[in-house]
Amino acid sequence: MADKVRVVVMMGGPSSEHDVSMASGAEVFKALSRTDRFEVQAIMISREGQWNLSNQAPVALPRPGEAADRPMPKEQTIRGIPLLSEADVVFLAFHGPFGEDGTLQGLLQTLSIPYTGSGPLASALAMNKVKAKELYRYHGLTVPQGLALPAKAIRASLSNAVTAVEANLPYPVVVKPNLGGSSLGVSIADNVAQLHDALALAGRFDADILVEEKLSGRELTCAVLEELDGRVRPLPVIEIVPHRGTFFDFASKYEDGGSDEICPADLTEEQSAAVQMMAIKAHESLGCRGFSRSDLFLTERGDLVILETNTIPGMTPNSLLPKAARAAGMSFADLVAHLVLLALEQPR
Ligand SMILES: Nc1ncnc2c1ncn2[C@@H]1O[C@H](COP(=O)(O)OP(=O)(O)O)[C@@H](O)[C@H]1O
Ligand SMILES: [Mg+2]
Repeated sequence: MADKVRVVVMMGGPSSEHDVSMASGAEVFKALSRTDRFEVQAIMISREGQWNLSNQAPVALPRPGEAADRPMPKEQTIRGIPLLSEADVVFLAFHGPFGEDGTLQGLLQTLSIPYTGSGPLASALAMNKVKAKELYRYHGLTVPQGLALPAKAIRASLSNAVTAVEANLPYPVVVKPNLGGSSLGVSIADNVAQLHDALALAGRFDADILVEEKLSGRELTCAVLEELDGRVRPLPVIEIVPHRGTFFDFASKYEDGGSDEICPADLTEEQSAAVQMMAIKAHESLGCRGFSRSDLFLTERGDLVILETNTIPGMTPNSLLPKAARAAGMSFADLVAHLVLLALEQPR
């Protein structure tokens, strides 16, 4: 029998989504270990940036992340990189600005190590909500009205920034860090005082901030998965009904009973097909690879509006993409194994 493929699952890191990543990584590790096709190891990167190689599944529960996405200390990274020589292929289980944003993808590419999911360019574009929206619009997808407030403009004058928002958008507005995830730093502002607080909060996560019209209607998410022959297949649409907060915030995403996730969503066949088409177009317009999950709204007027595309969506068995895959007849173990096989198929 041929040698087993050595898979290294990478997780953690100095990101505000450290814990969410540890939860994904632990589940991916366990699922890959259950088959005898792979020899599985983990590289866990601590919040401080230290790399640790282990052949055991980590234990982790998500809790709200810390604000600052810290830079990786150079010495730790240089010491960590040789651990990658253990890998025939890397399963990236990071979420957010560290690990999902294209930089690590670029490093792995440089090392000629195959890895799961999108390449450097698509990862970086998807992480940058402002740039992603420009591309969606270019490809004919509807995005929320909004404006970008670059760090420079906010630093120059917060009151001018507020004036610019009020000149362009009626309240309520949604304020979010341009680079971010897990709803960290996202809030809704109903008036000028809340807008100040919301800008300050988002500014703790990223210097550049995005302010959008608040959409109302039904919140949906739709994942797509590539086949080994390159075809892009949409998974069933999920509707999200948050209970904890007024939107799909961190608590409603990760706490028990935080939200209902209805899979498949109760939509007409036409609506469902239109959502799936949008998810495929979003995946393709950013140049994503392997898999992705797009968040969108079906507004009260019946328009489909896209918020963002996640190139490494949550990867526990209860996360949205695995849930959708299961509804399509694919177990979590089959899903993660498929992502590894896709990575090995990629010409690099
Ligand atoms: N323009 C908007 N209108 C209404 N709700 C929004 C809007 N933007 C974000 N939200 C809410 O905030 C959540 C997180 O926003 P999103 O853009 O998906 O960022 P991320 O998931 O990367 O933190 C969404 O799932 C949704 O509940
Ligand atoms: Mg989202």
